[in-house]
Amino acid sequence: MHEWQERLRDGERLLVRPIRPDDRDELAAGIHRLSPESRYRRFFTPTSELSSSQLTYLTDVDHRDHEALVAIEPDTGHGLGVARFVRSVEDKERAEVAVAVADSWQGRGVATALLNRLTERAREEGIRRFSAEILADNRPMLELIDDLGEVSVKHRDHGSVEVEVELPDEGIGAALRETLRAAARGLLRVRT
Ligand SMILES: CC(C)(COP(=O)(O)OP(=O)(O)OC[C@H]1O[C@@H](n2cnc3c(N)ncnc32)[C@H](O)[C@@H]1OP(=O)(O)O)[C@@H](O)C(=O)NCCC(=O)NCCS
Repeated sequence: MHEWQERLRDGERLLVRPIRPDDRDELAAGIHRLSPESRYRRFFTPTSELSSSQLTYLTDVDHRDHEALVAIEPDTGHGLGVARFVRSVEDKERAEVAVAVADSWQGRGVATALLNRLTERAREEGIRRFSAEILADNRPMLELIDDLGEVSVKHRDHGSVEVEVELPDEGIGAALRETLRAAARGLLRVRT
């Protein structure tokens, strides 16, 4: 299995690797430590207690239709974040993406590092589009999705948007990228 050594903007090192069944205790502890707001944004529920079967689902993944990558702090071995995709049953080229980063590590590029690797893994598994349901005021997540590729809004609901991004084969032109980012920010302003 792959393992990647990543370096954040501030020079901090991270290890990124696929999740394993023996990560379940660390994942449960990590979710418990998330602030209520972060937890709500990730799971759409404030609850911090995951059932045993939910923990199994989140950690015992097949690495083809369901992949999850964890970011680990090398010195302590603690998990700092998780990004995952789950392939759609109806559309084999689409997967739902979700990511969460420990509150004290947010804003330092951890999710960006995770999603870059997750996008590579998704392409290897034949996935061409990511979808996500995001609270309309979740600016960091909207910016992250915007950075991944071409964004379209599929659905708007009370306070949330369903977005889909076409994953680029290997990046897109700078002009188009800037236009898309501007468009996504416009979308965000409309919603808020
Ligand atoms: C969304 C989340 C995963 C982002 O993780 P992160 O490690 O902080 O993200 P990064 O540091 O890689 O930053 C990603 C982008 O968001 C922006 N950003 C980060 N924190 C921000 C904040 N507080 N306000 C506004 N923008 C912010 C960054 O500038 C960056 O955009 P850029 O690349 O255009 O500069 C994190 O905020 C989180 O775990 N939130 C709770 C769970 C959640 O919302 N999950 C998404 C639903 S699945």
